[in-house]
Amino acid sequence: MITIKNSKEIEKMRKAGKLAAQLLDDIEPFVQEGVSTLYLNDLCEEFTQKHGAISAPLNYGGFPKSICTSINDVVCHGIPSEKDILKDGDIINVDVTVILDGFYGDTSRTFMIGNVDEKTKSLVNRTKNALYRGIDAVKPGKYLYEVGRAIEQYISKFGYSIVRTYGGHGIGNNFHEEPHVLHHFSQENKIRLREGMTFTIEPMINMEKSYGVVTSSIDGWTVTTADGSTSAQFEHTILVGSEGAEILTKTANSKN
Ligand code: MF3
Ligand code: CO
Ligand code: CO
Repeated sequence: MITIKNSKEIEKMRKAGKLAAQLLDDIEPFVQEGVSTLYLNDLCEEFTQKHGAISAPLNYGGFPKSICTSINDVVCHGIPSEKDILKDGDIINVDVTVILDGFYGDTSRTFMIGNVDEKTKSLVNRTKNALYRGIDAVKPGKYLYEVGRAIEQYISKFGYSIVRTYGGHGIGNNFHEEPHVLHHFSQENKIRLREGMTFTIEPMINMEKSYGVVTSSIDGWTVTTADGSTSAQFEHTILVGSEGAEILTKTANSKN
C-alpha cells in the first residue's frame, strides 16, 4: 500500500528532509583527502543528535554505523571504518538518513576528493543530472515509470549502466515503504502518482556496461560493481506536489 501523507505529516517530512540536507552541507568541508570514513560517520552522528534526531541506518537490519560511505567501486551500503582513508582521486557517496519527530529524511551525494580524472568527473556530474531528470518527470496523474524512463533515456547515451538490484523507495514514518522506485523503464512501475506521495529517487550509475553488483560475503553489506568499475549515486527525498516534485532534502543554500 502506498500512503498519502496529510499536511501534518508533510510538514514533518519537510523538517526531516531539511535536516538531512543540512547534515550533508555541514560535513562537506570535512570530506577530504586523509580523513577516515569513520570520522565522517562520527561527525554525522554528533550533528544528528545535536538536532534532536536519530540516525536511521544505525542498527537498521543490523547495519553497524550511522551513515553509508561508498567509495569508488562501492555502489552502496559501504560501512564507515577507520581503515578507509580518503585519497586523492577518490569519489565517495555519503548517504544519510535522519529520523526527526518520527519522520525520515534520506539523501546522498557523491563527493570528489582532490584531482579526480575527467572520465570519473563526468560520471559523477551525469549521475547528478540523472537524478534531476527523474525528479523533473514526477507529476501527479502520471505513472511512476516516467522517472525510470527519464533516467534511462538520459543515461543510455553514455555507455554507463543503471543498477537494478537497488532502487528508490517510499518513505514517511518508515525508512522503506512502497513503492519500489526503479531507475530504468519498467511496467512494474506502472503506478499512478498522486499528490501527497513521498519517495526517494537515488540512481546508482556504473561506469561500464554491466549493471551487476555483488554483496560482500565478509560484512554482508558492502555492495560493489561486479566488474570493478566505478559507481556514483545521488539521492533526494521528494513529495509529489500539485505541480510536480517538491524536493524535501534541500536547504536554501545547498547546491544539490
Ligand atoms: N540510505 C539508504 C537508502 O537510500 C539505506 C541504507 S540502509 C542501511 O535507502 F542499513 F544500509 F543503512
Ligand atoms: Co533511500
Ligand atoms: Co539513502
